[in-house]
Amino acid sequence: MKAYIFFLLALLSFTDARHFSYKAREQWLAQETIPSNYDKRFRPPPVSGQENGPVQVNISMYIQELSICSYRQQLIVGGYFRQFWVDPRLAMTEVEDKDETILTLGDMFVDTPIWIPDTFVVNSKNGLVSEDAPETKGRSFLRVKADGSVLGSTRFRSKLICPMSKKDTEVTCSFQVESFGAKATDISYAWKDFEADSMVVSDQAIKLLKNNGWKLIESTPVNDHVELDIGKYSKVSLNFKLEKFEGEEEETESDDL
Ligand SMILES: *[C@@H]1O[C@H](CO)[C@@H](O)[C@H](O)[C@H]1NC(C)=O
Repeated sequence: MKAYIFFLLALLSFTDARHFSYKAREQWLAQETIPSNYDKRFRPPPVSGQENGPVQVNISMYIQELSICSYRQQLIVGGYFRQFWVDPRLAMTEVEDKDETILTLGDMFVDTPIWIPDTFVVNSKNGLVSEDAPETKGRSFLRVKADGSVLGSTRFRSKLICPMSKKDTEVTCSFQVESFGAKATDISYAWKDFEADSMVVSDQAIKLLKNNGWKLIESTPVNDHVELDIGKYSKVSLNFKLEKFEGEEEETESDDL
């Protein structure tokens, strides 16, 4: 009996070990690096030496999937969505190499101990993370560097609402991102490296779209604002101009639209 209980305990601790040690390590690291007076409900204060402006959140995307369905009037965009901001409260002045990663946290949308922007896709039927796209669930992380800069990266798959008719041979669909609750005075979004490649559309995505009967003419990033009756919000969008291949009557249906 004793041996049996011992075995059971050993088994329990063994099955738990991986999960526990990972979470425990994460918690320990977070305790070590996040100041005790840190309150994640409040957005980061301005970087020292700067005026009391909004938090700058820079965005980049790597697109691995593009597919259009004129019947459902939607464009599916999938890949990696990255956000960059600075939270001076997390800076570790005693670390010499400012570029050194001091904390890496798993899933950025679950029990995150630090502030993250409440970014959402305005014109998506499902948001950033799709319930029916398991590859996006739990596929995210946060990385904090010694200078307080934070990277939040997540897999995403958004079904964008894109009004069109079956006869259209050219459409423009837009991917639009805003903060859900923070006005432009609190969060300001911009495409990272606006001039350079902050949005990369992979060859794979181009191929998928081609198999789908369409081609990408251009993708244009826009930094913008939107005036709502409840205030002014910062917004970034990426406008996809798409064209149907000549002579293509039917677009091929993919199974998982
Ligand atoms: C965001 O982009 C601006 C303009 O390119 C840059 O000055 C700033 O340092 C960037 N901030 C972060 C946190 O990446």
